[in-house]
Amino acid sequence: MMIYVGSDHAGFELKEALREYVKGLGHNVVDVGTFSDANKVDYPDIAKEVAEKVRDNAGSRGVLICGTGIGISIAANKVRGIRAANVHDTTEARLSRQHNDANIVAIGQRTTGSETAKDIVDAFLTTDFEGGRHTARVEKISAMENGQ
Ligand code: RB5
Repeated sequence: MMIYVGSDHAGFELKEALREYVKGLGHNVVDVGTFSDANKVDYPDIAKEVAEKVRDNAGSRGVLICGTGIGISIAANKVRGIRAANVHDTTEARLSRQHNDANIVAIGQRTTGSETAKDIVDAFLTTDFEGGRHTARVEKISAMENGQ
């Protein structure tokens, strides 16, 4: 699977660890930055870059990290077709896929340990959307993007 990863300065260390973890799982990984925590960067810029890549590459997924996962998920969700879930444990990761067909997972470096974060990413990348009764609900989200 093609996986786009990105973080702001507050998520840099965890992003580095997750990038290597995802590579180790055998995925193709593109890191959009930031590439150092020496300088502050604005999380909406990173969110936009990853979200647009996920939007434009069918079947790909994104992993975004900021301090809390909140700001970067809010920003990513402004891109049409993106369903970014701010996730704190493997149950949320699994359900974000099964029920919401989430295509980006957002994690907070300041709120989630790195081992838990790896388990979250693993669950996120290995769980399929259940479809069924959830399909119409996800379609309603898409309709909202068209002002319906
Ligand atoms: C940066 O200090 C911090 O505000 C950002 O990483 C994120 O937590 C925002 O939601």
